Amino acid sequence: MINVFPWLRHLPGDMFGAKRYIQCHHDLDAMFSDPFIMQKTKEYEEGGDALDNFISAYVHERRRKEQNGETTSMDGGHLRRLLGNLFIAGSETTATTMLWFMLYMLHYPHIQEKIFAELEEKVGYNRRPTMQDKPRLPYLNAVIMETQRRASIAPFSLSRLCTADVTLQGYVIPRGTRVVTNLDSVLLDEVTWGDPFNFRPERFLDQYGGLLHPEEFVPFSMGRRVCLGESLAKMELFLFLAALVQRFRLLPSESGQPPPQRAQFGVTCPPEPFKLKFIERVDKS
Ligand code: HEM
Repeated sequence: MINVFPWLRHLPGDMFGAKRYIQCHHDLDAMFSDPFIMQKTKEYEEGGDALDNFISAYVHERRRKEQNGETTSMDGGHLRRLLGNLFIAGSETTATTMLWFMLYMLHYPHIQEKIFAELEEKVGYNRRPTMQDKPRLPYLNAVIMETQRRASIAPFSLSRLCTADVTLQGYVIPRGTRVVTNLDSVLLDEVTWGDPFNFRPERFLDQYGGLLHPEEFVPFSMGRRVCLGESLAKMELFLFLAALVQRFRLLPSESGQPPPQRAQFGVTCPPEPFKLKFIERVDKS
């Protein structure tokens, strides 16, 4: 609600949790962003730091603009907000997708075993999977894609403001309108997927077992403002989940009783908290 109607945060009390959320942001700044900003700015100013990180690059660009007398909105507060956005956009989303993957593995043990069989054949046990293995593991890729589709963790994407009057399929959208995209309407569309509510990774595989990339697969949204971290997220999901299934069998904490597949509704939708067991697959002793 707050994401769509930000003015609700001014209501007395904290009915929508906005004040708690803002406090979390401040805590995150104090614990994480501020110490990093100080350290990296100092390193940059002492000339010992190459432009190999976001903060140094930001400080460098800000100084350049100031020295050239250009007007700029770049300042400490802006940098802090950018880091906060990257932190949330980059960690919350990927972690939530991984949680759903683990939950689905508890519900569909035969899928988990099929991923393991593919890993066993193509990678073995003696080394961790790498990005070079990705094209050779279509079934795992299909399960990750099906997780992203079925869980649809960012159902309302990010809301955007229209910068100009637009007419779209006969509808006039005036400048300044807040536009909320409904990714669920694509990811869970019955006409496109046939059985959208079933967890069926095979929908992303062709008859030869090759990976399909339907254009309706849009968990990262699409167009000019498509997720900035799409490639990084895909890499993280693949490396983490491949290594996880290679090493552990995931089981419900109560035998035969996987936790419910219920989402907590928010800007991202993680599953309700659940417990599970990680059983190491290979005894290294
Ligand atoms: C599974 C993981 C992820 C999912 C499902 C996801 C999804 C999305 C979606 C739906 C949007 C909105 C795009 C739009 O408005 O049309 C978005 C934007 C964005 N994402 Fe992600 N994201 C993920 C991971 C990441 C990562 C790892 C990063 C960065 C390290 C990241 C950074 C961003 C940023 C900065 C934007 C705003 C882009 C802009 O305004 O132009 N995301 N993401």
